[in-house]
Amino acid sequence: MDAQASAARIGHVEKGPKMSVNPPAGQEASTKRHGDALENLMHERRSFPPSPQFAENAVGKASLYEEAAAEGPEFWARQARELLTWDEDFSQTLDWSDAPFAKWFVGGKVNAAYNALDRHVEAGNGDRVAIHFEGEPGDTRTYTYAQLTEAVKKAANAFESLGVAKGDRVAVYLPMIPEAVITMLACARIGAVHSVVFGGFSAEALRSRIDDAEAKLVVTADGSYRRGKPSALKPAVDASLAKDGHSVEHVLVVRRNEQPVEWTEGRDVWWHDVVDSASAEHTAVGHDSEHPLFILYTSGTTGKPKGILHTTGGYLTQTAFTHRNTFDLHPETDVYWCTADIGWVTGHSYVAYAPLVNGSTQLIYEGTPDTPHQGRWWELVEKYKVSILYTAPTAIRTCMKWGRDIPGKFDLDSLRVLGTVGEPINPEAWMWYRTVIGANGGKKENPAPIVDTWWQTETGAHMIAPLPGVTATKPGSAQVPVPGISVDVVDEMGESVPDGSGGFLVIREPWPSMLRGIWGDPQRFKDTYWSRFDGMYFAGDGAKKDEDGDIWLLGRVDDVMNVSGHRLSTTEIESALVSHPSVAEAAVVGAADETTGEAVVAFVILRGSAKEDPDIVTTLRNHVGSEIGPIAKPRNILVVPELPKTRSGKIMRRLLKDVAEGREAGDASTLADNTVMQQIAESLKK
Ligand code: WTA
Repeated sequence: MDAQASAARIGHVEKGPKMSVNPPAGQEASTKRHGDALENLMHERRSFPPSPQFAENAVGKASLYEEAAAEGPEFWARQARELLTWDEDFSQTLDWSDAPFAKWFVGGKVNAAYNALDRHVEAGNGDRVAIHFEGEPGDTRTYTYAQLTEAVKKAANAFESLGVAKGDRVAVYLPMIPEAVITMLACARIGAVHSVVFGGFSAEALRSRIDDAEAKLVVTADGSYRRGKPSALKPAVDASLAKDGHSVEHVLVVRRNEQPVEWTEGRDVWWHDVVDSASAEHTAVGHDSEHPLFILYTSGTTGKPKGILHTTGGYLTQTAFTHRNTFDLHPETDVYWCTADIGWVTGHSYVAYAPLVNGSTQLIYEGTPDTPHQGRWWELVEKYKVSILYTAPTAIRTCMKWGRDIPGKFDLDSLRVLGTVGEPINPEAWMWYRTVIGANGGKKENPAPIVDTWWQTETGAHMIAPLPGVTATKPGSAQVPVPGISVDVVDEMGESVPDGSGGFLVIREPWPSMLRGIWGDPQRFKDTYWSRFDGMYFAGDGAKKDEDGDIWLLGRVDDVMNVSGHRLSTTEIESALVSHPSVAEAAVVGAADETTGEAVVAFVILRGSAKEDPDIVTTLRNHVGSEIGPIAKPRNILVVPELPKTRSGKIMRRLLKDVAEGREAGDASTLADNTVMQQIAESLKK
């Protein structure tokens, strides 16, 4: 191991007692890892140290690990003061006395929007581009920091005139247009709590999130552009509010695609009517460091999505720190592009907040990668000279399928750091990303380093990731904890596993951007994350440490699926299926998929006459689409006569997964009825 690589590991927590363990959960999880067999993965020996020039100019040096280890939480206090501008300094770094409810930077006052906007203008960078926006049809808009600051001030005034005050919740159901970021920052400015709902969720899903957060305002658009056509958004908001008994007073509508919309007088308001005419004067006041910044719903192991709560000071500190160091950000010269939608946490931390807090220039693109042609992304990289690209392995695998000739038509020389997030990346895709994209089709002597970042909605910011100027990167591994973060892999008993073994991923110490709870449900917060292992945060992921101590993520060990980097709950989709009158029972599994990592496969038992209905599968797919959203539609729905259950009635998903992945079903000896797998196989043959 070279010196740089070993320096990158200083951040590791000390190893616990060596013991030989083979946790079943690790094995279970390993089957989720896409593509390459786990054994090959664990023997991945390629490693790519940074070039000397890159290491020399890097923002994040190896000393960060040493400082973080020596300083403890005070490392974060220093980052908080260096990276943010506080209206009032904090008096205590961390209050963990009411664990697992953390308070960071206690007593401090800070405004997220001021940090993302005004202070850059005050520092003389008002003319720097904050956002290059490119719409799917090719329309463009540019916002300098001065212009974006003004836009957010106007929106803040308009929201206040619509009755939104500090602490109120605002639901955001918008496409990837600048107004999405403007809305989030305007909320943050006035202390309102945004709850962004991904535009791919249905009216039903939107309503349950509006109700849970008791949102007062919904910000939406007439629609967007998707695959070359206008697509509607407002009708879903109308449908979600059709039934009375909701908390919404106003719906604020951005005009994006000029399609006709239904209008509810008194409730609906056009953005251009109230925001454009609002005053451009608005003073940001500091909010308490622990003031709620946003709620973001994510899938858990039960049917009901969890409202993950993030607060201000700690969240901004760790997102800004990681954005700067993981991506080696040089804000004066870099053009950064994160392809995530604001509907997911990546679009919160690494589109709406950190890039702006760090004063960088970023690209926001509205549409799909293949509209109007499969080279659209690479055309954008060339056009805007993107230097840092952050995307998901699914997107890389999709581009691989389209072929290297497509990116080969464009000049990708500007790219110097590549990031991935959301799901494990298979070494083959990693190598393709490195050579075809990061080396500009092999033309570059020193390809752009790849940083594979592991984190979650709950963690708020990167937790495991290489430092591109320090770590010798390995294809397929996220490798090392971020400086100041104590990640570990433990066995069933919560003991640290030795190098070369697998188990459960945990976090041992509180971190600044950690979730502060589940909205309205403190007990569920404790049960979900803090009850599995004493005093440790349980992430829900399986992981292994290789012989060098590098961490390899193996996928979820719970009932959460990861489809194209999107989190979906098996239980939530099962509930949606059984809510249809034709379905008696349903079981859902995530099956390995070449492109999307996992795919949703459902097994259903039908009621009575539905068995004769030739269109039942289409009907049920659409039903899931309307209950949850198109992203949750199963790839396959298999009609079966029975489901495999244990004597205590638990569905054995493992056996269904075998069927879904085309394997001989494994050990079925604990089934209540051992003929069930035979019955299923026969019915599927028909
Ligand atoms: C998975 C997305 C492997 C993991 C930021 C986690 C990953 C879940 C990686 C969180 C990665 C995320 N390698 N797996 N680099 N990044 N995951 O909340 O299973 O949408 O628990 O946050 O995605 O998904 P979420």
